[in-house]
Amino acid sequence: MPAEPTSAQAETSANGGSSQPASAPAALRIFSGIQPTGDKHLGNYIGAIRQYVAGQDRGDALYCIVDLHALTVAHDPDVLRRSVYDLTALLVAAGLDAARCLLFRQSDVPEHTELSWMLCCLTEVGRLQRMHQFRDKSVAQRELVNAGVLFYPVLQAADVLAYRAHEVPVGEDQREHLELMRDVARRFNSRFGGSREVLVVPEHRIPEVGARIMDLQEPTRKMSTTGGTEEGTVYVLDEPAVIERKIRRAVTDSGAGIVRGPDKPGVSNLIEIMAVARGCAPADVETQMASARGYGDLKAAVAQATVEMLAPIRDRYAELRADERALEAILGAGAQRARGIAAATLADVRQCIGVGAVSGASSATIDTVSA
Ligand code: AMP
Ligand code: TRP
Repeated sequence: MPAEPTSAQAETSANGGSSQPASAPAALRIFSGIQPTGDKHLGNYIGAIRQYVAGQDRGDALYCIVDLHALTVAHDPDVLRRSVYDLTALLVAAGLDAARCLLFRQSDVPEHTELSWMLCCLTEVGRLQRMHQFRDKSVAQRELVNAGVLFYPVLQAADVLAYRAHEVPVGEDQREHLELMRDVARRFNSRFGGSREVLVVPEHRIPEVGARIMDLQEPTRKMSTTGGTEEGTVYVLDEPAVIERKIRRAVTDSGAGIVRGPDKPGVSNLIEIMAVARGCAPADVETQMASARGYGDLKAAVAQATVEMLAPIRDRYAELRADERALEAILGAGAQRARGIAAATLADVRQCIGVGAVSGASSATIDTVSA
């Protein structure tokens, strides 16, 4: 039985738990999006994918593979198409179950891009230009900063708002994007909603432990497909021996204590990974490791726990990935149901902002231009 939104125990959730809007779904609705670019790593798994899996038991969960967001970087069309299947198989292998959530491809639901345009017209360019990811990406992609990079967060806002979702599980790096979507939803409601909350103002759900897994070689930088080191990035599908090697070679800090601290980014990161893999608190890991002989023992324990967490996903992945028809069937069915939800929101939004036919005066279906 899904919980009511007000009972959502978001570990750190944005406040502003607004009253239940008339048009919102009764159950807690959870939405998240994930890009089909690059191989997914331990940071993605711990920060996001594990919360997706847990979300299936907490409410109505929708998860979207955001292939349109992936167009903001130079790409090969065939690779992009295949990457969507790679990610679908990975998410199912990690525990997403098409019977308990909707898993779909963003480009199959055109309501996202329609709403995105409408929200663009409510968003200041200056705000988008000041966003951290835009600034970082526009420095990295100096040759071509396309307008998609700038409008990326507005499409992300549309993804969530189209479903009137209450909660968005993400890692720490998405906090700013969530703030923008909350502001856009509030602005829409105050301009066009009258007394109604037409768009739900969503809350982020950022895990308390593991919201920012760091690169094992450079533990002051987040683990990342684009900006990290290869040896410091553990991929979900790495072979067990590779995971062990990467963790054993992790950079640690001076001093031998196995405790977290701002001066110990390497050890703190390993303790967090271990806590998540073992399902306990970081303080428990510190207690368990109190009698360890040194960082070697810590790394061996973290490597073992990480392999135990990821190996079953790798085992299931190969079989799932081989059957593209089955993957397409999951995405197709998910998109069909998702579209039903998004279309209802868009019908409301169109009414509110004054585009399209007046509600009730439905236009007759026309299939030829000449009458
Ligand atoms: P992406 O692969 O960029 O679409 O990211 C998917 C999800 O993983 C997002 O919710 C991110 O916030 C999360 N994420 C990415 N990197 C990390 C990291 N190093 N630690 C924790 N979460 C992360
Ligand atoms: N920007 C997110 C990321 O890089 C991906 C994303 C797109 C997303 N749409 C979303 C996340 C909607 C949450 C909700 O990880």
